[in-house]
Amino acid sequence: MLIRKQTGIEIPSSEITPEHIYFSRRAFMTGAAAAAGAAALAACAPKTDLSGAGSVSRTDLPAATPAVIAGQTDELGDPLTSFEDVTNYNNFYEFSTSKEAVAGKAADFPTSPWQVAVTGMARNPGVFSIEDLRARFDQEERIYRMRCVEGWSMVIPWLGFPLAALLKEVEPAADARYVRFETVYDPDNMPGQNSPFFRWPYVEGLRLDEAMNDLTLLSTGLYGKELLPQNGAPLRLVVPWKYGFKGIKSIVKIELTDEMPESLWMAAAPNEYGFYANVNPEVSHPRWSQATERRIGEGGRRPTLPFNGYGEQVAALYAGMDLAANF
Ligand code: MTE
Repeated sequence: MLIRKQTGIEIPSSEITPEHIYFSRRAFMTGAAAAAGAAALAACAPKTDLSGAGSVSRTDLPAATPAVIAGQTDELGDPLTSFEDVTNYNNFYEFSTSKEAVAGKAADFPTSPWQVAVTGMARNPGVFSIEDLRARFDQEERIYRMRCVEGWSMVIPWLGFPLAALLKEVEPAADARYVRFETVYDPDNMPGQNSPFFRWPYVEGLRLDEAMNDLTLLSTGLYGKELLPQNGAPLRLVVPWKYGFKGIKSIVKIELTDEMPESLWMAAAPNEYGFYANVNPEVSHPRWSQATERRIGEGGRRPTLPFNGYGEQVAALYAGMDLAANF
């Protein structure tokens, strides 16, 4: 099942394209005049509420035509970043440190078969194939902003399922406090992993309550299609209130632990990248301000929002904490 849902966020109904229109447009787009029609339909999309939204089985999905949802926005009214930019301007150091080169270098990265081990302090640990995960957990579409620590941002329509659903399945032990994530280690296919400058594989971590927050997504796709290698196929993390580097790609291991994980970036530059990495316009990176950002596809810069605009959903997780010290 693919369920269209914007969890915990009040979205003005005028900003939403109902799923039946979204998918019927997609079905229509498989016809002959696809490209021209997509632009016209997106521009004239009727703006109605979600009441007509149903659900569509994955197998019913017509071939994806990303341009057809270009008329959609996030809950703040900002348009989606183009599919072109989302899939061609990437940070994925395992392939290249040049954002424009990642897609080409990752194109042939093998993502099948793929297994994810969910291990550590859990009562019911397990190893899941990617097919297993897709079948077991309802795939939802979530439109999230992504704010990179470097000062640029995008709005991305992800497909995926809440990390909490998987964690509930494996039943964290009572003393588990953190979740540690690991990217696959495959230096033959990921040339960047031969670089001595980083401690491979890429590692990230969340506190267990952050991991259980409903916004935290394990993504299997974007723009209605399965993830491409450059975006972290077949499974990547999306934590929209944190800087983009927390969104670890091509995950093979998820471990419940009682120790705060040390991420690749914490190990590489502890004074620049902390464990929390919550988007915070008031706490500068040592080498640049975080007060503003460049939205890819737009001119100029816009103010950065605390918690990337998701404060209502997540600020309570940090009540009483010094967010400058815990950066
Ligand atoms: N995950 C791995 N394994 N390796 C990386 O280099 N880069 C991170 C994050 N996840 C990275 C990663 C950074 S810095 C960002 S901003 C996002 O991925 C970028 O995601 P995108 O390329 O899908 O936009």
